[in-house]
Amino acid sequence: MPVVGFHQARRPRQTHRARIKRELSWPRPGGIALSLAGAAIIFSGAQALAPGVDPGLPSPAAAPAHSLTTPDTSAGPARSFASTQSSASPAETQSGATPSRPAQQPSKGPSTLSGAGSSPSPITGTAAAPLVAGAAADSPLQKLFESGNATPKDRALWDINDPGSPLALVNKRRPLHPEAYVPANLVVPAVEAGSAEPPLLRADAAAAAERMFAAAAADGVRITIKSSYRSFDTQVSVYNGYVANKGTAATDTTSARPGFSEHQTGLAMDIGDANAGTACDFSSCFASTAAARWVAAHGADYGFVVRYAPGEESVTGYLAEPWHLRYLGITVARDMDVRGIHSYEEYAGLPGAPDYK
Ligand code: DAL
Ligand code: ZN
Repeated sequence: MPVVGFHQARRPRQTHRARIKRELSWPRPGGIALSLAGAAIIFSGAQALAPGVDPGLPSPAAAPAHSLTTPDTSAGPARSFASTQSSASPAETQSGATPSRPAQQPSKGPSTLSGAGSSPSPITGTAAAPLVAGAAADSPLQKLFESGNATPKDRALWDINDPGSPLALVNKRRPLHPEAYVPANLVVPAVEAGSAEPPLLRADAAAAAERMFAAAAADGVRITIKSSYRSFDTQVSVYNGYVANKGTAATDTTSARPGFSEHQTGLAMDIGDANAGTACDFSSCFASTAAARWVAAHGADYGFVVRYAPGEESVTGYLAEPWHLRYLGITVARDMDVRGIHSYEEYAGLPGAPDYK
């Protein structure tokens, strides 16, 4: 496993849109055997096993130990979760709450950016103080932000170590800090739920999801959310449920251990296809559904990437999940797409996370 410079490796110039055409030959060898039977129990058991009972339901979250807010205060029609999440502090539950940390961190580099619509003035970081904290100095992620065109504009959030940033990089080698992190502004997106678990995302991701689902619907594709924000405690239930069903080794190829899941950031969601039924939910055959094809082709235009792509298992640590979308913001998602990079680890120039240390 190379430690740095994934992006420097030679690879065919190929957009994600082109790639999904090739990948319509799913399931790949081994993929079927690794289909997520446990997921059917945990998430879509509403249809398959236990109607109305969904261990994936968000439980009262652990006490918030982090007080960040997100930069996007235009959550659109998404409804605030504040009224139903009593364990969180007011500042953490209101969409658009005033950021509780400085908007800029001077130590991260120049403090000014060219305004929207003006010609970007390239700014550069150094190996010692890269613009995007935590990302490799020569990574595509750094170069995008050096261009001056990337979002978020809030430089305090140019930090892949910050679970409150849309750039947060979470994997088996990069747990959330603090472990019981709770996103600042969870809201209920105005989209169709595909399970008994109520959809719940950070405001920026929720607004993007609403736009994306509406665009898909205009194309006749009915995307649903099967699972979205999951607290640390919920992930305990989910992970343990899988372990009881198929053991630890198999579970670790499909489910994150508590404190290691992107779902805890409020930036990830598992989708379904209402027109396709539930047979392929959380299974490799989901890749052939209209919803999976649509998001693979258009998700980047709304800021979402398929986080666990086929062929990237040794990097991401997980079998391909064509249903698991991660919000990274439009500029990052599109840049990954254009560059034909299919793991966020590679895009940030960081080592893969095939297993837990
Ligand atoms: N299924 C993904 C890896 C998670 O549990 O977060
Ligand atoms: Zn997921």
